[in-house]
Amino acid sequence: MRDTKEKLSNLTIFLHWVVGLTIIALATVGVYMSENEAFEFYPIHKSIGVLIFVVIVVRVYWRFVNGWLQPVTEYKAIEHNLAKIIHWVLIIAMIIMPISGFIMSGAGGYGVSVFGLEIIAAQFDPITKEAIPHNAQLSGFMRETHEIAGWTIIVAIGLHIAGAIKHHFIDKDNTLRRMLGKN
Ligand code: HEM
Ligand code: HEM
Repeated sequence: MRDTKEKLSNLTIFLHWVVGLTIIALATVGVYMSENEAFEFYPIHKSIGVLIFVVIVVRVYWRFVNGWLQPVTEYKAIEHNLAKIIHWVLIIAMIIMPISGFIMSGAGGYGVSVFGLEIIAAQFDPITKEAIPHNAQLSGFMRETHEIAGWTIIVAIGLHIAGAIKHHFIDKDNTLRRMLGKN
């Protein structure tokens, strides 16, 4: 079933919440672990980040095959355009995040594993225990990309949630209910 103005498909609802809630969790853990050097969280952040990428690819493919959602009612152009821009930022950033994370870790010599299953081998100096980068410049560039896109997605999520709250509590329309499958 495709999305209509009245009702969203189960696939849209499922993908929105699985990807959305996972990204909120990854961003929270990501900021916490990098600011506190909590290295014990890196493997789980990376594992879930790689796995969710598979779902993100399906999600983005489905969005473009299915087309963007129609607004539940008519809004002012500025409100509609703002929501559109934020949806684009969210979609683009959700593709950039896992790819940049993957390349940062892989090219940096830290390796990438999914719950212990090695995808890119780590390369540590046996004496200093430091990672030996395959390509330090690429890894550094991807670290910056991951950080900038990470903060961009956090701001966009904040505005996006504020929009959902406004629709639900101020406009009292069906926008949030429709995404919850409850209309
Ligand atoms: C508690 C958190 C969230 C709430 C309450 C929420 C709510 C909503 C609602 C109500 C819509 C429908 C908007 C419309 O009808 O035009 C929507 C769409 C959308 N949301 Fe969220 N959202 C949340 C988290 C996220 C996160 C974390 C992301 C991405 C990182 C995200 C990405 C999107 C995108 C791209 C759309 C556009 C339609 C689509 O592609 O499915 N959302 N969200
Ligand atoms: C949708 C997926 C992902 C999201 C939303 C996400 C989000 C974040 C965020 C917000 C940060 C903190 C950035 C900062 O303040 O420096 C972070 C850090 C990090 N992420 Fe991700 N991430 C994702 C996927 C991945 C993947 C797939 C990998 C690697 C395979 C990865 C590896 C890392 C690493 C190593 C750091 C720490 C960087 C540092 O210590 O400087 N991430 N992530």
